[in-house]
Amino acid sequence: MSTTEMLQTDPLAQPTAYRVAQLSRDDRLFHIILAQQFDSELIETLCRLAEMIRNIADTKRGNQFLRSLLAHKRAMLYFIQPSTRTFLSFSAACQILGIPYNEVRNPSTSSEIKGETEEDTVHVLSQYFDLIIMRHPMEGFAERMAYKLNASLRPIPIINGGSGKDQHPTQAMLDIYTLLRSFEPRLADRVRPMLSGNPFHGRTIAFVGDLKRGRTVRSLCYLLCRYSGMRLVFVSPPELRMGEDITEYLDRHGIHHEECDDLNAVIRDCDAVYMTRLQDEHDKAGESKAIDYYKYSLTLEMVERAKPDLVIMHPLPRRAELDVRIDDDPRAKYWAQVRNGMWMRAAMIAYIFHTDATIIDHYQTHYTT
Ligand code: CP
Repeated sequence: MSTTEMLQTDPLAQPTAYRVAQLSRDDRLFHIILAQQFDSELIETLCRLAEMIRNIADTKRGNQFLRSLLAHKRAMLYFIQPSTRTFLSFSAACQILGIPYNEVRNPSTSSEIKGETEEDTVHVLSQYFDLIIMRHPMEGFAERMAYKLNASLRPIPIINGGSGKDQHPTQAMLDIYTLLRSFEPRLADRVRPMLSGNPFHGRTIAFVGDLKRGRTVRSLCYLLCRYSGMRLVFVSPPELRMGEDITEYLDRHGIHHEECDDLNAVIRDCDAVYMTRLQDEHDKAGESKAIDYYKYSLTLEMVERAKPDLVIMHPLPRRAELDVRIDDDPRAKYWAQVRNGMWMRAAMIAYIFHTDATIIDHYQTHYTT
């Protein structure tokens, strides 16, 4: 099939490698839409960049340097689905890098109320801004808009801040950054060399809850496939099991995975446990009400039986599935996840705009001996 013929058909139906290529420019990340865009080298490059940015931001002089980097760019945060962390961490990331930003959070205050389509709205935004960060309830909307902008007079990058039930790649990047910081305690001291080994080898990671509709877990699974030698345990109600598209992807990449109905049965084996809430906003007719979700909770008593270096994660917001009594346990990493997200998102924006080399130079000149 020629390139023209491929473009005439649905781009989302094309092979992933083709889509990833369309989301890149000069063999480099341009749009951030899919977790499959990240290989282990890029994951570790961005983790190191996030470490450098958080170290540089520790001083007034460092903050001034970072704020000078992208003051000539403008960003739009187009978030038409509710968000606290993703919205605020992206706005904080823009502030760190000196990017002025604007927001649309309620389409009823835009001309969409007069019948303008969302596609036209995004085209209009692309005329005013240099980057669009987008959360949208429809799977594939951000990706389709990325391809449309590629073909437009002003192609600018789009970052997917959560697309329906499908993907949340920047959350997955902050999650893998949190895992690497936990599994590699010297990551902060080793921001220059690549990781020497495979930090995931021999690890057991449990994902718990609504795995069918939890986009953060789906995206993180794609990233974990860049490593090997781990055991994934999916603990979920039968109605909310991990999708076959993900389990087949894990199979193709040789990642061991198994299903389990009871977190109690595996908690002692776990190196990390990733909790998720019931995603009942995706219910069609309140069907989640019939599910006994309490069974898929993590309690303080369970944590007391777990490994002393267990990594407890949750993308938040949480409900009752994560016992608040765990919050003071040093193994609780969900508040660190929130902060890691700000540094990782700053790193991703800096990378998209080709300022990573300047940051590395600055870091090596001022922060290493
Ligand atoms: N983790 C996450 O995406 O949180 P928000 O929905 O608050 O952005």
